[in-house]
Amino acid sequence: MSFKTIFAIVSLAIFASALPSKRAVCSQGRVASNAACCKWFDVLDDLQANLFDGGECGEETHESLRLTFHDAIGFSRSNPRAGGGADGSIMHFAETETNFHANLGTDDIVEVQRPFAIKHGVSFGDFIQFAGAVGVSNCGGGPRLQFLAGRSNNTFPAQDLTVPEPTDSVTAILDRMGDAGFSPNEVVALLASHSVAAQDHVDPTIHGSPFDSTFSTFDPQVFVEVLLKGTLFPGNGSQPGEVLSPLPGEVRLQSDFAIARDSRTACEWQSFVNNHALMVSRFEAAMAKMAILGHNPRNLIDCSEVIPVPSKAASNSAALPAGFSMADVEASCNNAAFPTLSTLPGAQTSVAPVPPS
Ligand code: HEM
Ligand SMILES: *[C@@H]1O[C@H](CO)[C@@H](O)[C@H](O)[C@H]1NC(C)=O
Ligand SMILES: *[C@@H]1O[C@H](CO)[C@@H](O)[C@H](O)[C@H]1NC(C)=O
Repeated sequence: MSFKTIFAIVSLAIFASALPSKRAVCSQGRVASNAACCKWFDVLDDLQANLFDGGECGEETHESLRLTFHDAIGFSRSNPRAGGGADGSIMHFAETETNFHANLGTDDIVEVQRPFAIKHGVSFGDFIQFAGAVGVSNCGGGPRLQFLAGRSNNTFPAQDLTVPEPTDSVTAILDRMGDAGFSPNEVVALLASHSVAAQDHVDPTIHGSPFDSTFSTFDPQVFVEVLLKGTLFPGNGSQPGEVLSPLPGEVRLQSDFAIARDSRTACEWQSFVNNHALMVSRFEAAMAKMAILGHNPRNLIDCSEVIPVPSKAASNSAALPAGFSMADVEASCNNAAFPTLSTLPGAQTSVAPVPPS
């Protein structure tokens, strides 16, 4: 061994011993890089068993994912009083925020989640982002989201009108999201969330109606189905924020329809249609940004290791639903051809509602 090598080993040892050793063994022998992450394994166990019905990508998962957005987007680069970002304010001040029109329906999941957060003694801001990350890991082909812990439990209510609505124009949505720090491409990436989503309040005449036919898997199907020619309203006719959908039982948001076809966003939208891996990686990156709005990540501890590894996707590409052909696709990206997709076999089907649980 040369002197140089010995010197390197000794200095490495001194350096390593100068760092506090935070590695810890947590419950059931699970290992965390920081002892502060151990409690999140216990929250994980509780959520999987008692909130997500044994680890399902069902209604509570969809609602929990939506809640990460509705809490975090209460944030503005230009107006510090708009909200504290991903701060749990939608849970602390539920009586104020869940009554904002854009937050209709979030009161259910806020009330279901709150006792879990209190029981485990974690801040509401941390809890909301953690629950969303765990929930979406239950969806086949899902992302493995980053989870940083340590948000303060003290904050203030967000102002109204920070959350985009399906009746808003693309310009209004991109402006609002831009004010919170997101590019048009990042907005499209975040909308991958609508692959595991349903609605109750835009069209209240059809309960639990999904935005795509594969609402319990995190796949690019929504990016294709939103581009299909719309022909029907699945409920009792048109409602504000709703436009014609291609499949019985499926609801199409006006905002998704418009973002899929707008020249500022259509190419990013189309790029996900046959590229599940790209959709997931862009979603993970945009969600990592969203989850820490209002925070300095240097003050947070990386506990991402607690988030389960989702099962793999069955396919990298979406398919046309049975009965549809490429002629039904309203391709909207001007600088790339729409990929050729196969059609699922069988006769055209309707989309069943998300089972209530
Ligand atoms: C950018 C504009 C967006 C608009 C206009 C929008 C609008 C909506 C609307 C109207 C619903 C249906 C709510 C109901 O009636 O029950 C919904 C559901 C949902 N949204 Fe968004 N959304 C947007 C962005 C996002 C983002 C960034 C996320 C990311 C986490 C997200 C996640 C979800 C999820 C998971 C659901 C399904 C909730 C459930 O099934 O219970 N949305 N969205
Ligand atoms: C966070 O604040 C809420 C009140 O809004 C309280 O009920 C909860 O116990 C607090 N949690 C912690 C960890 O301080
Ligand atoms: C749909 O409209 C019909 C006729 O107006 C009405 O009888 C029915 O109750 C409506 N259904 C819902 C779910 O609103």
